[in-house]
Amino acid sequence: MSIIKASNIKKVYGGGKDFAETIALHNINLELEAGEFTAIMGPSGSGKSSLLKILSGFDQATSGDIFIDGKSLGRMTGDELSIFRRSHIGYIFQEFNLLDSLTIQENIMLPMILNREKNAVMNKKAEQLMELLNITSLKNKYPYQVSGGQQQRTAVCRALINDTSVIFADEPTGNLDSKSSKAVLECLKKTSEQLGTTILLVTHDPFAASYSDKVLFLKDGVIRTQLYKKESQDLFAKQILDHLALLEEDDYDL
Ligand SMILES: Nc1ncnc2c1ncn2[C@@H]1O[C@H](COP(=O)(O)OP(=O)(O)O)[C@@H](O)[C@H]1O
Ligand SMILES: [Mg+2]
Repeated sequence: MSIIKASNIKKVYGGGKDFAETIALHNINLELEAGEFTAIMGPSGSGKSSLLKILSGFDQATSGDIFIDGKSLGRMTGDELSIFRRSHIGYIFQEFNLLDSLTIQENIMLPMILNREKNAVMNKKAEQLMELLNITSLKNKYPYQVSGGQQQRTAVCRALINDTSVIFADEPTGNLDSKSSKAVLECLKKTSEQLGTTILLVTHDPFAASYSDKVLFLKDGVIRTQLYKKESQDLFAKQILDHLALLEEDDYDL
């Protein structure tokens, strides 16, 4: 069964008496399987962030519905949605959004603290995740004492701590150098392979997208094409690059 199913998602911003209307998403349909790693690419303003916010229940679609684990987000009350999001969905941003007054380990445990979990349970879970993402030695440090890549890996652990089934990542390597980006991407890949987490990654970078199993290309709020990884990651990166060049040609049409 698909873990995320979006049907006929449309998003319109504005349209009040003083505001022009922007149709950010037109009739988007997509299905993602459990454990699948998908990238979304597209020019600035093509609707990538809008799509991620709507799929994760952060924002509401103008029409259409989202099903996560078979449950309709549109039919939940506000409270039901917050509880559901906290236990199923992790979100990672370009800015790491860690709290400077908490240690790395405390930052990771924060969503569990909010759920009033027992200390022993939280510590054990945090330790397993820090081990998986190679940041155990940093657990007592503060965010400002570690690198950007290490902060982002902390954010990935925090996103996973409630046994999250889906991670949404909006340009998570946008503020990182290439070495740190690579470490974060490898961690996301490992998470999908070892924990079965479904990952949806928005990126501008063909190399980052090549870590995924499939890339969706968005343009003007429409999914124009999809590319699947069939052979090596290097070849996939090249195919993505070629495809982006094709999409930029004005006469390109399906
Ligand atoms: N809160 C908002 N209010 C009005 N327009 C918005 C809002 N958020 C996004 N948009 C518009 O929707 C379109 C898609 O934006 P966005 O989803 O942020 O694209 P991307 O992430 O691909 O750059 C753009 O035209 C943008 O200006
Ligand atoms: Mg965006």
